[in-house]
Amino acid sequence: MTGIESVFRKHEGVEPVIHAAGVGHWFGVQESRLQVLFSCDLDLYPGEVAILTGPSGSGKTTLLTLTGALRALEQGSLQVLGRELKNMPPPAQVALRREIGFIFQAHNLIDSLTAADNVRLAMQLKDGYTSADYAQRPVAVLRDLGMEDFARAKPGRLSGGQRQRVAIARALVNEPRIILADEPTAALDKASGKQVLQLLQQLAAERGCTILIVTHDARVIEAANRIVNMVDGRIVTDVDIEQQALVCDFLKRCSVFADSSPSLLADIAQYMRAESFEADSNIIVEGDEGDKFYVLIGGHCDVLHRDEERTERLATLGPGDSFGELALLRQLPRAATVRAVEPVRVLALSKDRFLQAVQADSSLYRHLRKMAAISF
Ligand SMILES: Nc1ncnc2c1ncn2[C@@H]1O[C@H](COP(=O)(O)OP(=O)(O)OP(=O)(O)O)[C@@H](O)[C@H]1O
Ligand SMILES: [Mg+2]
Repeated sequence: MTGIESVFRKHEGVEPVIHAAGVGHWFGVQESRLQVLFSCDLDLYPGEVAILTGPSGSGKTTLLTLTGALRALEQGSLQVLGRELKNMPPPAQVALRREIGFIFQAHNLIDSLTAADNVRLAMQLKDGYTSADYAQRPVAVLRDLGMEDFARAKPGRLSGGQRQRVAIARALVNEPRIILADEPTAALDKASGKQVLQLLQQLAAERGCTILIVTHDARVIEAANRIVNMVDGRIVTDVDIEQQALVCDFLKRCSVFADSSPSLLADIAQYMRAESFEADSNIIVEGDEGDKFYVLIGGHCDVLHRDEERTERLATLGPGDSFGELALLRQLPRAATVRAVEPVRVLALSKDRFLQAVQADSSLYRHLRKMAAISF
């Protein structure tokens, strides 16, 4: 059962490329001032392709433009490439934007320039190119996007999808460390959408580029390794696909979930958070109010009960065991202390999510009752 642990360590020691904490945003002034983002937290790491989905008006573009330093951050903290955007002076904002590839719906191509020259213009934002680079790179990127026949065409002669691909080439030509894209494949047919995705995935895999894409396109969603869902200005789910699959697989092998449906497990998995505890620390304390349900993924814990005289060890738990359900089910204080005997990692599920799962799945309830009957 070690695979599951490694996935939680995959970002250990790596700084996020985008780190949003408690980001809030408002539009309008005075009485018409309306909050559109509420305490958004998001960490994206090198090489991640993350999708931002959600209903129209849920705040996706607002979050994307804040991340790109295209609007001023009002509340919370946003660090992009290690730089804080809160109160960032305008010249620093301009410098940061130059390191980001933007693919937005409004293409903003310059009509008097050819496709290749539009792309070439973006190269001036970065130092160090040779004249050979200026000659070759724009054409090469356009070729990667299936646009080699249109390098000399001006935007007025191109279709919407072709213009979109020129805009994408322009965003990619400097090989930015971050790409922020708003519906990049909306105007594209199947084949060119696929080409764009392949190129983005390649940039992520080979160059560690971090890519955040707003989209409803199922093909793009398939290509992602993170899916972040927004509703009414809040991030409601944030799923790492690889982690989700491993968590589901792990839960399936835990006796408490033995008869639970795959869809319930998937649902639970996306809300479970990994927590670590040092040796000799308490995970839950007898007499406290219950707030979470736990599944042990690594290390061992003792279950301890204290009566007047002494502390008795009721059980020792290991990977795959779960605990903490009793206080949640019965609305009673914790009946025992669970203490880590060595460094321990757990998956924790909030009380509300736990109770929802129990309500939705009678087999889970049966297993939990059985456990309660035989344990503390
Ligand atoms: N410039 C603005 N002034 C006032 N309100 C705005 C402005 N831009 C966006 N809003 C409002 O903020 C909320 C979030 O908008 P946003 O554009 O971020 O949504 P979205 O999720 O990108 O939607 P869509 O999928 O339709 O593009 C909406 O209620 C929108 O009406
Ligand atoms: Mg939008």
